[in-house]
Amino acid sequence: MDPFWRLIVPATTQQKSLMDIHPRELKSFVGDLPTLPIVFQELFTRMQDPNAQVSELAEIIAKDPALTTKILKLVNSAFYGQASQITTISRAVIIMGFQAVRSAALGVSVMEQFKNLESASEEFDIPSFWRHSIGVSCLAKQLSIVLSVNEPEDAFVAGLLHDVGKLIMLQHFAEDVDDLTRAAAEQQLTWRACEEVLFPTNHASIARALFRAWSFPANVVEAVSCHHNPEAASRHATLASLVHVADFLSYHMECPCPGAVPPRTHAKDAAKLIDLTPDLAREALERATDELDEALEILKLLD
Ligand SMILES: [Fe+2]
Ligand SMILES: [Fe+2]
Repeated sequence: MDPFWRLIVPATTQQKSLMDIHPRELKSFVGDLPTLPIVFQELFTRMQDPNAQVSELAEIIAKDPALTTKILKLVNSAFYGQASQITTISRAVIIMGFQAVRSAALGVSVMEQFKNLESASEEFDIPSFWRHSIGVSCLAKQLSIVLSVNEPEDAFVAGLLHDVGKLIMLQHFAEDVDDLTRAAAEQQLTWRACEEVLFPTNHASIARALFRAWSFPANVVEAVSCHHNPEAASRHATLASLVHVADFLSYHMECPCPGAVPPRTHAKDAAKLIDLTPDLAREALERATDELDEALEILKLLD
């Protein structure tokens, strides 16, 4: 809100702005957001226990048949490239492993949470946002495979969720998103550069606070949190670097994120950390491009 109107409109009727939210307050801000459905909370808490049994996890997921169907849809999608159809969660855990099913559950839980979100901003349309997210997840997964770093499932889910902080901004601070997209167009700036000028916080920090509150795995939280500054990552720098490079490459794969101009470059140290060469980047880009159309099928999970 314009500072002039702040003086006139009573504080109780003023919509809160991102300009007023200090990074230290993010924890209490996300504490006011809807929590994940109980079944996801139970699942992610149990999955943190290395002694958790397959049957136990399958039982938790089975409590919610709609969720079971969605997770199975995702594990049978192009992302996982399974030769034959997997029809039960226990089978998915046995064939694909714990981590793969956990990634699918993480992706489904977030898509469920935001599936009814409508954009009030002309410059930021939700289908383009998800196309970008899926493009980055394909690229992060393929980079992980061609460079042999990290688990492809972790790369895929961190890529899928990397910009979710923007959806929270859109949901709760629509006016700020309008200001941001306008400034981006006028000044030819990236989303992140605009955030630095306009707000004390940014979409990566907002997502970190939310994913921590939802008990997401530490590697996914850190990769999302540091996808614009992978050098700040402490324990999961390679995963953060994969997502950072994938995000940059997505603008060369016709799936840019809406609302701002593309980044002109990427962090050189991130490319160095994962031993990225131009040939390997090209290979990952080609493989991800081949996979994208099929991968976009997962948008049906939002229906
Ligand atoms: Fe981002
Ligand atoms: Fe992005």
